[in-house]
Amino acid sequence: MKIFLDTADVDEIAVVARWGVLDGVTTNPTLFSKVGGPYDDVLRRICELTPGPVSAEVVAADADGMVDEGRHFAGLAPNIVVKIPMSEPGLEAMSRLRSDGIKTNCTLIFSANQGLLAAKAGASLLSPFVGRLDDINQDGMIVIRELVDIVTIHELETEVLAASIRNPLHMTQAALAGAHVATLPFKVLQQMVHHPLTDKGIKQFREDWDKARKALEQRPSENTETKEAVAAAPTQPGS
Ligand code: E4P
Repeated sequence: MKIFLDTADVDEIAVVARWGVLDGVTTNPTLFSKVGGPYDDVLRRICELTPGPVSAEVVAADADGMVDEGRHFAGLAPNIVVKIPMSEPGLEAMSRLRSDGIKTNCTLIFSANQGLLAAKAGASLLSPFVGRLDDINQDGMIVIRELVDIVTIHELETEVLAASIRNPLHMTQAALAGAHVATLPFKVLQQMVHHPLTDKGIKQFREDWDKARKALEQRPSENTETKEAVAAAPTQPGS
């Protein structure tokens, strides 16, 4: 399963790239509004930092405008995927960009039928929004499960990207549902790394190591040879 970061913040992207778990990035106009800066420059920088696809979202309302924006984005870097909202002009734009050999990510999907249409129009990524459905008291994960089944049963050449992921449980459920990709805010990725017992265990091991080292140093009966060995020993395990 691929993990994308849902952000336009290059610092966050650089951190997750260093962790070795970054497969791609998704952005949207709201995320860009939070970081500011020249749009194309920020996108180019994100593409340099990211080993896989980077979704850049169009804002035009008509198919011609979406295609123009999509072609422009695609010219910025080889790993750009053009993100297009589910809509009638959006379907036309995805279909035209497919003819140009430009990859698209259909966004703002809230039903399996919308996803099916986007796949037919040639979107290489389908982005159902889990959290926004949960927000209106509907189970967003149902759309992920249905769409994964449809893509699998009909062997469609596309991938389901679980979007609007708000917490680690969403991530686990999306993985179990067979989503090919999930895109996560940096905060959720950090939440996945940590567990109170892991953090407690790391602290405890460090404290016990320091205690044992100090006890050895302070033993009066210790011969000089042992004391010298302790002094030369690493200050932490493995160093
Ligand atoms: C990603 O492609 C979407 O734009 C994003 O996941 C939406 O998340 P939100 O519903 O938390 O804004």
